[in-house]
Amino acid sequence: MLNIALPKGRLGEVVFDMFAAAGYDCPAIREPGRKLIFENESTGVRYFWVKPSDVSIYVERGAADIGVAGKDILLEYAPQVYELADLHVGKCRMCVAGFRDFYDDPDRTLRVATKFSNIARQYYAGKSRLIDIIHLNGSIELAPILGLSDVIVDIVETGTTLKENNLAVLAEILPISARLIANKASYAFACEQIETLTRRIRAIADRRNP
Ligand code: PRP
Repeated sequence: MLNIALPKGRLGEVVFDMFAAAGYDCPAIREPGRKLIFENESTGVRYFWVKPSDVSIYVERGAADIGVAGKDILLEYAPQVYELADLHVGKCRMCVAGFRDFYDDPDRTLRVATKFSNIARQYYAGKSRLIDIIHLNGSIELAPILGLSDVIVDIVETGTTLKENNLAVLAEILPISARLIANKASYAFACEQIETLTRRIRAIADRRNP
């Protein structure tokens, strides 16, 4: 059995459809209910739904052989896993955002609110800009509005959250998408199985992103 950690939610459903199309279907997963683990002996897969930001933890520690995680999580937490394929789904951008007319005074330390402290730190280090990181866990857009920070570093997908809160993208840091990842030991032991799966999934992902 290949243990596969899928990110719970809308992205996970899209990703599961890709696995199913690649020949790794598991009809039980589509039945309504709150079960978290599903297996299909005939295709040799066991899926489990995991909080998206936890997928890389399951894979890194070997509780899952493979999984699907956002590039944002991989960059932020740098888990020791193999990144096997870009699935070209879950696309968004990691951005600096704030009030459209924000003036960045270089003589002042920039206050940056974010869930992605390491990505933010690395981005500003590359600009030799002194910053004060304010680590938050959600609703990051509130921070500049309430004067908690000058800017935010956050994921922008449709841009609706920024727009509806009168904020704007000030700089783009990097594009993000979902990645197929593997546990290093699993990859060594089940190399052929994982490579076959990767090849099939990659073909489906590339078809979506010609
Ligand atoms: C993410 C992100 C933004 C929003 C961007 O938040 O942190 O707030 O989505 O999406 P949009 O550009 O399509 O509006 P999430 O929904 O994960 O909730 P959070 O506030 O708990 O981080």
